[in-house]
Amino acid sequence: MLERVIDNLISNAIKYNDADGKIEITVYDMPNGSGLRIRDHGPGVREEEKSLLFRPLFRGANAHMASGNGPWLSVVRRIMSIHGGDVFLRNTSSHGLELTLVFSDAACPDRMRG
Ligand SMILES: Nc1ncnc2c1ncn2[C@@H]1O[C@H](COP(=O)(O)OP(=O)(O)OP(=O)(O)O)[C@@H](O)[C@H]1O
Ligand SMILES: [Mg+2]
Repeated sequence: MLERVIDNLISNAIKYNDADGKIEITVYDMPNGSGLRIRDHGPGVREEEKSLLFRPLFRGANAHMASGNGPWLSVVRRIMSIHGGDVFLRNTSSHGLELTLVFSDAACPDRMRG
């Protein structure tokens, strides 16, 4: 399931990027978990749409940039919550959108032992 989450976020970053835009993927450690951040250099999303984008089938004003149906971000949030994690989205201060997946150690006992 997590593979599908990451697959959709990378495919969004490709679809909604500028033609020559890079995609940066960062994996990092936090005190009680870990995070994975996917950042593109496209137009980002309208501020007023940010909370709506996690609703099933909602597509933003930029949807004309790419084909799709819009169920995926809501599924991403659901899958992350099943895994005891969360997903956050923000427009970067420069041009681009950043999606962050947060995984909690508490939901991953192997990692706590490790
Ligand atoms: N990286 C991004 N940059 C800008 N807008 C984005 C980005 N990722 C998602 N969005 C916005 O969020 C909406 C919902 O994303 P979602 O992945 O659910 O749908 P989709 O990619 O349009 O279609 P599908 O995933 O079904 O092929 C998109 O239609 C788009 O408006
Ligand atoms: Mg998508």
